[in-house]
Amino acid sequence: MQANGNANQRIARISDHLNPNYPKMEGSSGLQQVSCRAKGGAPGFKVAILGAAGGIGQPLAMLMKMNPLVSVLHLYDVVNSPGVTADISHMDTGAVVRGFLGQSQLEDALIGMDLVIIPAGVPRKPGMTRDDLFNINAGIVKTLCEGITKCCPNAIVNLISNPVNSTVPIAAEVFKKAGTYDPKRLLGVTMLDVVRANTFVAEVMGLDPREVDVPVVGGHAGVTILPLLSQVKPPCSFTPEETDYLTSRIQNGGTEVVEAKAGAGSATLSMAYAAVKFADACLQGLRGDASVIQCAFVASQVTELPFFASKVRLGRTGIDEIYPLGPLNEYERVGLEKAKKELAESIQKGVSFIKK
Ligand SMILES: NC(=O)c1ccc[n+]([C@@H]2O[C@H](COP(=O)([O-])OP(=O)(O)OC[C@H]3O[C@@H](n4cnc5c(N)ncnc54)[C@H](O)[C@@H]3O)[C@@H](O)[C@H]2O)c1
Repeated sequence: MQANGNANQRIARISDHLNPNYPKMEGSSGLQQVSCRAKGGAPGFKVAILGAAGGIGQPLAMLMKMNPLVSVLHLYDVVNSPGVTADISHMDTGAVVRGFLGQSQLEDALIGMDLVIIPAGVPRKPGMTRDDLFNINAGIVKTLCEGITKCCPNAIVNLISNPVNSTVPIAAEVFKKAGTYDPKRLLGVTMLDVVRANTFVAEVMGLDPREVDVPVVGGHAGVTILPLLSQVKPPCSFTPEETDYLTSRIQNGGTEVVEAKAGAGSATLSMAYAAVKFADACLQGLRGDASVIQCAFVASQVTELPFFASKVRLGRTGIDEIYPLGPLNEYERVGLEKAKKELAESIQKGVSFIKK
């Protein structure tokens, strides 16, 4: 009987790979693991990556396939997703992988998902203005979020596509229009800034980066990235030169990679690592783990701006608590004013894109 059961499970699993179109599952959020077990997958959550064949998407897909909290992994892109899916599906980890190609398969990719990670879009290329980049990525994020409102309105959304300071307000407006907006479930991914800050501070102080925790608040571009070096754990004191050096290096980490790659792209591997660290925190929160805290760009009342990045506690329904900034020193207060000025414009730009 046992052998028969295993064979049936294997057949179900193989047919699942071959035919990704399966019936709609009710109730997309939370701990609905029964249907995953029935397909032979490990217990866990259903995760979709939109833009899965890209520079970030591919290593992100690989790392999520290795994540024991994931039972089903949907890989969607407008190009090359069948190849990436075939490749990743050979990894002998628990998650069942399914691929989806092109707009006509977007809804199938999204149905029943607990978490949707969005690295879809174009990175900045030589000759491209910020406005060119904005218009392309804003349109992509709008289309993808419209799919989410239809197919998995209760999913947690991790938005990576740049400019995050504008794409998160865009997503919020799309969800509001559809009547599905829940600010607790929409998170702009600023984790790479935190990962870089931890690494660079560890280098300067001679520490192990795994033991360093730097809160990075504000937004995710240039001066809007505000590392709070006065709140680093373990407590560190920096000279004014070290503070200047670290703040500038953290704010310009993206440019450092773009220049080193010399025309061959932007941060993809460290970004995939950061995205998985953040997604894993969201899944731990969904699972009900206590004290899961990370920085993210979210709808917020921490400042007068409608969106702001700061530390948030993640729980079963997304963001459970948003923490205030804590005491800032003079250097950080000046940085905060600069950050808020630029952020206000970027947020407005995103809102106007949908409202125009
Ligand atoms: N949040 C962050 O910290 C951070 C860091 C680095 C890069 N980024 C941003 O992430 C995005 C992706 O960067 P990348 O280097 O992976 O770019 P990439 O061009 O290598 O990959 C993007 C992928 O998105 C896909 N895509 C395009 N339109 C799509 C659509 N309508 N639906 C689904 N997929 C679509 C492309 O086919 C491609 O596979 C860029 O906007 C980049 O600026 C964000």
